Amino acid sequence: MRGVGYHSGAWRHPDVPAGGARDFRHFLRSAQTAERGLFDMVFLADGIGIRGRDEPPGALCRSDQNAELEPLTLLSALAPMTSHIGLVATASTTYNEPYHIARKFGSLDHISGGRAGWNVVTSWSDAEALNFGRDSQMAYADRYERAMEFVQVVLGLWDSWEADAFLQDKSSGIFFDPAKLHTLAHCGKHFKVRGPLSVARTPQGRPVIVQAGASEQGRDIAAATADIVFSAEQDLSKARDYYACIKGRLAGHGRAWESLLILPGIVPIVGRTRAEAQAKSV
Ligand SMILES: Cc1cc2nc3c(=O)[nH]c(=O)nc-3n(C[C@H](O)[C@H](O)[C@H](O)COP(=O)(O)O)c2cc1C
Repeated sequence: MRGVGYHSGAWRHPDVPAGGARDFRHFLRSAQTAERGLFDMVFLADGIGIRGRDEPPGALCRSDQNAELEPLTLLSALAPMTSHIGLVATASTTYNEPYHIARKFGSLDHISGGRAGWNVVTSWSDAEALNFGRDSQMAYADRYERAMEFVQVVLGLWDSWEADAFLQDKSSGIFFDPAKLHTLAHCGKHFKVRGPLSVARTPQGRPVIVQAGASEQGRDIAAATADIVFSAEQDLSKARDYYACIKGRLAGHGRAWESLLILPGIVPIVGRTRAEAQAKSV
């Protein structure tokens, strides 16, 4: 649900509000329409910087995709305006701390009544690095090593509270059972996080984890931690290989074959008839 669509010229279409990418009402309309159409979730991709380049010169100022709303803020606003659609946003493991992510997505899961999901990315652009005290992005292997540990810490923090920890017993004055609050005490190569998390166990138990890694390391993170994988393979036989490869790794992480769903990307072109859709796509 990025901007007014992935086509770089979409904002110029006569029926499209040109400033839609900055307008909450556009996203509200899209999310409510998707919900009415029984979609399982909406997804907000994200980059934490302007990643487009002015190449060739004059190109950047033609794009509506450089001034957007911050995804978690946007999903928090959409949560009470929708009732059952999943709310998934990207957040980076390179330019966040695990505690921040566990807390924010945990809160979104509470606010939405159990509809939050986190798309785990490592951020691939120098444009993002330049906004966070670096001159260029971290080496690929380091980014992925950090990401793997990052997700484990977030999952650990989400287990801080047992679901029935809150006694809220007014007569005794005991609000929660201390035996049901767990301190993570994580000490690893990239993170030292004591915990516990200051957000209660969430309605889903924890938010859903989404991943879209294509590389060896990306596939490993997906197989180890993801509930959902986005795939963008353009070729059917490569897509089948990718599916088999990700699913084949699950057992090595002690996971069942069905514990992870792979969602292939499509570009729908809508028409009342096949011929009308085909006419639009040429
Ligand atoms: C459907 C889809 C959505 C993605 N969304 C984002 C995103 O919001 N932000 C981002 O930085 N990368 C995003 N990516 C890129 C992936 O996180 C990943 O970097 C990419 O698929 C290449 O895999 P690799 O990192 O394992 O090499 C997305 C990829 C796909 C296929």
